Amino acid sequence: MNRSSDSSLTGIRGCLIDCLEDPFLISDYRAVRWFLDGLLVIQSGKILACGNYEQLIESYPGLKITHYPDRIITPGLIDTHVHFPQTAIVASYGKQLLEWLELYTFPEERKFQDFEYAAGVAEIFLDELLRNGTTTAMVWTTVFPESTEALFQAAQRRNLRLIAGKIMMDRNAPDYLLDTAETAYRQSRSLIEQWHDRDRLSYALTPRFAPTSTPEQLQITQQLQSEFPSVYLQTHLSENLGELAWVKELFPDDRDYLAVYERFGLVHDRSVFAHGIHLSESEFARLASAGATLAFCPTSNLFLGSGLFKLHEAKAPERPIAVGLATDIGGGTSFSLLQTASEAYKVSQLQNQTLSAVQMLFLLTLGGARSLSLDHAIGNFEPGKEADFVVWNCRSTPIMDFRNRAEIQTWEDLNDRLFSLLMMGDDRSVDCVYILGDRVSLPQVATAPDKAFG
Ligand code: GUN
Ligand code: ZN
Repeated sequence: MNRSSDSSLTGIRGCLIDCLEDPFLISDYRAVRWFLDGLLVIQSGKILACGNYEQLIESYPGLKITHYPDRIITPGLIDTHVHFPQTAIVASYGKQLLEWLELYTFPEERKFQDFEYAAGVAEIFLDELLRNGTTTAMVWTTVFPESTEALFQAAQRRNLRLIAGKIMMDRNAPDYLLDTAETAYRQSRSLIEQWHDRDRLSYALTPRFAPTSTPEQLQITQQLQSEFPSVYLQTHLSENLGELAWVKELFPDDRDYLAVYERFGLVHDRSVFAHGIHLSESEFARLASAGATLAFCPTSNLFLGSGLFKLHEAKAPERPIAVGLATDIGGGTSFSLLQTASEAYKVSQLQNQTLSAVQMLFLLTLGGARSLSLDHAIGNFEPGKEADFVVWNCRSTPIMDFRNRAEIQTWEDLNDRLFSLLMMGDDRSVDCVYILGDRVSLPQVATAPDKAFG
């Protein structure tokens, strides 16, 4: 067959790098794959083939190709924990978790009962994800179903792969943000029926954290989980010492923080727990045997003074836990997952552990996909996967241009270039982003209706 005659095929030529295995379990060299001059062949939004340009092009003569010389192309990045309604309060001064929630977060989340406001921020938020090379995210909305609806609609219009859910919270927060066990059940159920597994969207049950849900509400969360076994669960776990003391007070009969969620059947292979800074070895082991995920949010953990995540303990080869990286906007300070990886590297350094470029790439791509049970669809350039990818410019600032002038000729060169991108890069390093094989247009300044700022 002359495959070149198929006009639905397109090619992307450039330096390709992705992960095929977990570099926390085997060497970087065996976990990674690269083609200094590579070719991606795309058909109907999916990867058809990935390989060396000179070899692969022989099978696709006449292929319509876009060439990105002097660029690095990776799979799209995956943010495993981010709050879209906290977009406007990023970088709010001076408080740690519980006071920060009271002072900044709750008043801002109140505004999201207005669908129009939520819809305006959703556009800014999704622009910002894409401007930073993030093509998939697990996202929090607010207690108001209007805000969840607004985000799903906006993501659907852009064909994005996204997981999201309405917060459930029926105590220990301002009255204006509370639902009840009963309304949380009804509203979550209706959103699941409307959005779960629709196009590239999935639903996550979203109890905020143990202190803001009554046992009755956690019970109905369990009920929803059993009625809809394929929906995700996202919540917070063991982030801040004040929070830990509060959980002990509210749930005196549970042996530790994780046990509260376990009692309600919420710890399983579709659960994603953000933070996990102060976990015991027993909690790590139970998370591992449940197949649950930890979302590591280094800029947030540093900004809110929560502590240092023990990544190498979490990923210990004898009982590895699935870990994803996450911005945790607005506790986190950057939408850039490159900046997030850079802070993860430093958090590891402070604990006498190093994180290699390949390990960081893994956490941001295949590891993130595995941690969200999405590795059948995204995470690398294997044939059949969805063609979400990013073209990176490693010379996007004067100092990066100076540092990265030499041509990449060997694996060592590429490994060093990737490391410098992870340490120094940000949104300026994103040359362009593809969703399902189509190049998306990225606004230089995010725009939205004026009322979004009201
Ligand atoms: N714990 C409960 N709610 C939140 C939140 O909105 N952000 C963070 N970082 N931790 C939380
Ligand atoms: Zn969070």
